[in-house]
Amino acid sequence: ATPPSTLVIFGGTGDLARRKLLPALAELTAAGSISPKTRIVGVATSPENTEASYRQLVAKSLVEADVPPEVAKALCQDCVHYQGLGDGSTAAYQALGERLLALEAEHDLPPRRAFYLALPTAALGKAVQGLTAAGLNADHSGGWTRVVLEKPFGTDLASAHALIDVLRNSFREEQIFRIDHYLGKETVQNLLAFRFGNSIFEALWNRDRIAAVEITVAEELGLGSRAGYYDKSGALRDMIQNHLTQLLTLVAMEVPPHIDADSVRYEKAKVLRSLAPLSKSDVVFGQYARNGELLGYHEEKDVPSDSSTETFAAVRCEIMNWRWRGVPFYLRSGKRMGRRLTRIGVQFKESPVCMFENEGVCEVNRNVLTMTLQPDPGFSLYMNVKEPGSGIMLDQFPLTFRHDEHFDDLPDAYETLLLDILRGDQTLFVHSDEVLRSWDVFDPVLTMNHTIHPYEAGTWGPQAANVFGIADQALMRDH
Ligand code: BG6
Repeated sequence: ATPPSTLVIFGGTGDLARRKLLPALAELTAAGSISPKTRIVGVATSPENTEASYRQLVAKSLVEADVPPEVAKALCQDCVHYQGLGDGSTAAYQALGERLLALEAEHDLPPRRAFYLALPTAALGKAVQGLTAAGLNADHSGGWTRVVLEKPFGTDLASAHALIDVLRNSFREEQIFRIDHYLGKETVQNLLAFRFGNSIFEALWNRDRIAAVEITVAEELGLGSRAGYYDKSGALRDMIQNHLTQLLTLVAMEVPPHIDADSVRYEKAKVLRSLAPLSKSDVVFGQYARNGELLGYHEEKDVPSDSSTETFAAVRCEIMNWRWRGVPFYLRSGKRMGRRLTRIGVQFKESPVCMFENEGVCEVNRNVLTMTLQPDPGFSLYMNVKEPGSGIMLDQFPLTFRHDEHFDDLPDAYETLLLDILRGDQTLFVHSDEVLRSWDVFDPVLTMNHTIHPYEAGTWGPQAANVFGIADQALMRDH
C-alpha cells in the first residue's frame, strides 16, 4: 500500500471527482492499494456544504457510478473531509493549510500532500496562486507536496506556455503531475510491454519494413451536454493534440534505457521534436450531420446553429528522424462515428516481388498488426494464408490475443494514475516539454481556416479524409 498521505481534491463536488476520482479511490482502498490512513479532503467554493453533507455526496456519487456496495464501504467515511474555499482569498487558502496541519496532527500523518486540481483550465492559475500565497506549494521535511492537473494543458501554444510558467513559478517539474488519462489505460501501458517485451518486432519497427501507421480513436457518442466546453475546443484540441499524439509517441519512440519517468518522457519528447510541420493538406476536419434519429452537431443542446467546430479531425504526420522518415502516421478521431473503437494499425511493406498472382492481380496483402485499446483490448497480426484447393489463392487471417480471454476486468485509468501520484512515479504523466512540443506542431493548424466537411452521424467520417489511406480497411476488421 502507498504510504499514508493526504489527497486534496479541488473541485471536490465536481463531475470528475464524482464520476472518476472518488470511485477510483474506493476501488483502491478496497484492494488495499492505498493506506487506509489516507485522508481525502474535498475542496469547493459552495458555501452550503459541510463535512456531513460532503460525506453524503461522496456516498451518493459512488452509488451513481455503480461502485459495488462492498467496494464503496471500503472507502472509510471518517477519512473523507470537506474544506470550503469561500471567496478563494489568501485567507481561505491559509485556512486550508491550517486544516491540513490539524488533520495531520490528529491522524499522525507526515505532510505528504497531493493537491488534485480537478478544475476548468481557466481556474487553474488562480488555484496555483492561492496555494502559493499560503505557502502550500512548499515541500516539507519528512513529506512531499505534489500538484495534479488534467488536460487540456492550454488551448494553444501561448496559453500552454502561460500555464507552464504559472506552475513553474510555484512548483518544480518533479512535483507536477499532468494527467492525460489515456496514459493510465492498462492497454496503453501494454503498448510498452508489446514493444519492449517482444524483441522480435524491434527489427521490423522502422521505415524499411513499415509502410504506414494509423491511430484511430472513434467515439460512438455525440456531444452529450458538453457544448460549453467542446464547442470552443473541437476534436483537434480535445483529442488529437493530446491523447492521439501520446499514442503516437509510444509507438514511435526509441527504446528507452529504462522504463522510468525520465527515460520514457525524454524519448517521447524526442519524437515530438522530430515531427514535421503540418501543412493545410495534412489535415481534414469534419462535423457530424443528422442521420435519421441521430442528431446533427448543430442540433445538440447549446451548440450555436452556425458553429464551425470540428467534431472529426484526421491528420497526416511525418516523423523526420532516421527510423521513421517517409512513413505516414495517420491520426484520426471523431465523435458520432460508426462505433467506439480505439486502435493502432501498423501496416508492413509488401514483399519486393509478388509471388502469387491471380489474373494479373497480386494476391498478397500487406501484413497488418492491429493493437486495439478499446472496447475489446488485444492485438492481431494479419497473415496471408493459402485457401485450400488447387492453385494458390491467398486470404488474410489474424493471429489474435484478447485480454478478456486471459485476464479479469482491467483497472480504470484513474486507479492507476492516482496510485502513481501517491507513489510519486511520473512515468505515465506528461512532461511540460511534451506539452510544448506537441503545441509547436498543432498550434499552426488552429489558424489554417479549414473547410469543415459534413459527415452523417454514425458513419466513419467525411469522404475527404479517405485520402489518408488505410483507415477504412483497418476499421472494418473485426479483431
Ligand atoms: C476526453 C475528451 O479527454 O476523452 C472527451 O475530453 C472524450 O471528449 C474522452 O470523449 C474519451 O475518453 P475515453 O477514455 O472514453 O476514450
